[in-house]
Amino acid sequence: MGITYNEADRVFHLQAGDTSYAMQIYKDGYLAHLYWGKKVNKINPEELIIKRERPSFSANPDINDKTFSLDTLPQEYPAYGNTDFRSPAYQIQLENGATITDLRYESHKIFKGKAKLQGLPATYVENDDEAETLEIALVDELIGLKAVLSYTVFKNFNAITRNVRFINDGKQNLKLLRGLSMSVDFIRNDFDFMHLFGSWARERHIVRETLRPGIQYIDSKRGASSHEHNPFIALLSRDCTEENGEAYGFSLVYSGNFLAQAEVNMYKTTRISMGINPFDFSWLLEPGETFQTPEVVMVYSDRGIGKMSRTYHKLYRTRLCRGKFRDSIRPILVNNWEATYFDFNADKIENIAKVAKELGIELFVLDDGWFGHRNDDTSSLGDWIADKNKLPDGLDNLANRIHDLGLQFGLWFEPEMVSPDSDLYRAHPDWCLHVPNRSRSTARTQLVLDLSREDVCEYIIDAVSDILRTVKVDYVKWDMNRNMTEIGSALLPATRQRETAHRYMLGLYKVMDTITNSFPNILFEGCSGGGGRFDPGMLYYMPQIWTSDDTDAVERLKIQYGTSIVYPASTMGAHVSAIPNHQVHRNTSLKMRGDVAMSGNFGYELDLTKLTENEKEDVKKQISQYKSLRKIIQFGDMYRILSPFGGNETAWIYVSENKEEAFAAYFRVLDQPNAPIRRLKLKGLDPNRYYVIDGKSGVYGGDELMYIGIAIPQLNGDFKSVVWRIKAK
Ligand code: DGJ
Repeated sequence: MGITYNEADRVFHLQAGDTSYAMQIYKDGYLAHLYWGKKVNKINPEELIIKRERPSFSANPDINDKTFSLDTLPQEYPAYGNTDFRSPAYQIQLENGATITDLRYESHKIFKGKAKLQGLPATYVENDDEAETLEIALVDELIGLKAVLSYTVFKNFNAITRNVRFINDGKQNLKLLRGLSMSVDFIRNDFDFMHLFGSWARERHIVRETLRPGIQYIDSKRGASSHEHNPFIALLSRDCTEENGEAYGFSLVYSGNFLAQAEVNMYKTTRISMGINPFDFSWLLEPGETFQTPEVVMVYSDRGIGKMSRTYHKLYRTRLCRGKFRDSIRPILVNNWEATYFDFNADKIENIAKVAKELGIELFVLDDGWFGHRNDDTSSLGDWIADKNKLPDGLDNLANRIHDLGLQFGLWFEPEMVSPDSDLYRAHPDWCLHVPNRSRSTARTQLVLDLSREDVCEYIIDAVSDILRTVKVDYVKWDMNRNMTEIGSALLPATRQRETAHRYMLGLYKVMDTITNSFPNILFEGCSGGGGRFDPGMLYYMPQIWTSDDTDAVERLKIQYGTSIVYPASTMGAHVSAIPNHQVHRNTSLKMRGDVAMSGNFGYELDLTKLTENEKEDVKKQISQYKSLRKIIQFGDMYRILSPFGGNETAWIYVSENKEEAFAAYFRVLDQPNAPIRRLKLKGLDPNRYYVIDGKSGVYGGDELMYIGIAIPQLNGDFKSVVWRIKAK
C-alpha cells in the first residue's frame, strides 16, 4: 500500500491492496488520469497519454499545440466549456453569470490514515497504518476557487475512496451548479454497465447491459437513494463473470438524490461520474465557505464480480458500519407488523412474545401503531407518545412485560414524517417541506418534515430520545415511508432553496449521529418501506437495514442476491412470514422461507400464536440452526454460485474467514418433469483441506466439493431448498 509522487514526471501512484491508480500533473497543471487496474510497479506516463491531432471539432486551449485538447485528455476532475465536450465533474456560476472555470494543480499533501468528512458518513480507519490519503488542491486563481480532491487507499482492500471539498477563497459569491464526488476516464469502452434496479417490494434486481455510445445513467430525484436505483454502478469487462474478468465498482456513501453515469464519447473513451444529483440542486458558496461532497468508494477486482462484492462486504462491515453491534452477532427477532398491522393491544403483543420466547427468539419488535391515535396510516406521525387505548399501562409497562419474559424489546419510529392529523402539524404547519402557495402532496397521508431546519432536527432528537430514555428499548427500527415532493424550506432564502434536499440529508445525518451516539447500547435498523434507502450512508449510522417489504421466499432470492452485489449479509434483515404471502399471495414451504431468511439477519414476521404444534417444532429447529450458523453468515465471505436472474435455481455459500466452516444453500423455484441430475460446485473452501457435512457420512476434500461438486438430492415439488453445513476436519 502507499502513495508516491515522482517529481521528475509529476506522477502520483496510488496502491491499494493489489490495485494501482495513477495520475499526472500534465502540461500547465491539468490533472490527467493515467491508469486504474491491477497493481503495477512502475508507470510510464508517455505510454498512457498519447498525443494526436484531432479534427477541428475538438478545440485546443493552446494555439501552438493542435495535439492537445481536453476533449481527448483522460482527466480526474474535468470542467465544461474550455475544450472538453463530455459531462463535467463540476460547474460553477460566477456573479457575472459565466460558468467557465479552470482548475489547475496548486499543491498536494500525502498523509497516513484518513480524514473524517465534515457532516457526512464515510468509511474510516481505526489506525492510521490502515490507509494513506492524498489531497490535491486545484485552484482557479482568477476567482479564488479551490477544489481539494481527496483520495484514500486502504492497505487491506482493493478500494480507493474519493471526495471533493470546494472552498471559496475569492471575493465574490459562487454558485455550485454541479459538484460531483468523482470522475474517471477510461481509454476504452469495451465494458458492460451494471446497476441495481427496482421498485418498492422489488429492490435491487441486477441489470447488466452493453455499454453504448452516449450516456447511460441512473439517478434519484426522490430525496432518498430509493427503491428504484441503488447508488451503485459497475463497469465489467465483457468476459466478466462471478469469478473471472475485471470489475470496477462505484458506490456512493449518500442517502439522497444522486447521479451515477457512464459516458462513451466519439473517441470511444468512457467517463464515469458520480455524486449528488445536479438536477434541482445548487449551492451558494459565499466567500470563505466550503462545500463537502459525499464519498465514493471505488473497488477494482481482477477476479470477477464476486471478488468485488467481497471487498465491499468486508470494507462496509468493518470500516463503514460502526458501534458496539458492528462486530457482534445479531439477535433473532419477531416483528408484529405482518402479524397484527395496526390492530393490537398489550395482551396480544405479550402472547406473541410468549411463544417467541418458547421458540428461542431473542428480540420482540413492536412496529407501527403504538403512538398517538394511530389505528391506520392516516394520523399521528410526529406525536411520539404512547397510545393510551392500545397500551393503557404505558409503553414502559409493555417493554417491562417483554423483558420479564426474557426477551429484548424493540420499537418502530418514523421520525422524519408528520401526519396532517397530528398535534405536531397543528402546532407547526411550516415544519414540513413545502413551497409557498402550492399544494402539499401527501403519500400514505403523510408529509415530510423539513430536516434542513435545526429546530425540526432538535424536535426529532428530543422526541425520540425521550422515549428511549424512559422506556427500556434494545432495538429501534427507523422507518421512512415516502419520497419528497414540493421540496422547499420555509427558512431558506430564495437563493438557497435548491439546497433544501441536501441540507435535509445533512440534518438527517446529524440527527442519526446524535441519537445513535446517545444510545450506544441500542441496535438500530434502517428501513424505508423495506429497502428504499438501503445505502452506505445509512449503514454508517445503522449496521442493518430491512431489506424489503417483500417477504416472499421466491421474490427474496432476487432481492437478496442483488443486494449482495454490494452489501454483506450482516446488513440485511430477512424474515419468515406467513403464507399465503401478503405481498404476492404465494404459498411456499416453511423450510424454504426459513432457508432464504437465514441468509441475512434472521427473524419472523407473523403471528406465532397461530402456528401449529408441528410448525412450532420446525421453527424451533430453524432458530437453533441459525444460532449455530449466524457467525458464519453474518461475518463470513459470501460466494454466489447460481443466479436467480439466470433461471430456476439459486445458490450461494458463506465461508468463515479461516475456511473452517461454511453454510451453503440451494433453492429451486419450480419443479420440472424428469429433472436432470444436478451437482452444485461449491466455492471459497480450502482445496487442501477435508470437510464433513452435517447429515452426510464421509469426508470430502475441499477440492472435491468445489471442482466436482456436491450432489443435489431429489426434490419433488415447487419452492424447494437444501442447505448444507460444512466443517473442516
Ligand atoms: C414500512 C416497513 O417497511 C414495514 O416493515 C412496516 O414497518 C411499515 N412501514 C409500518 O408502517
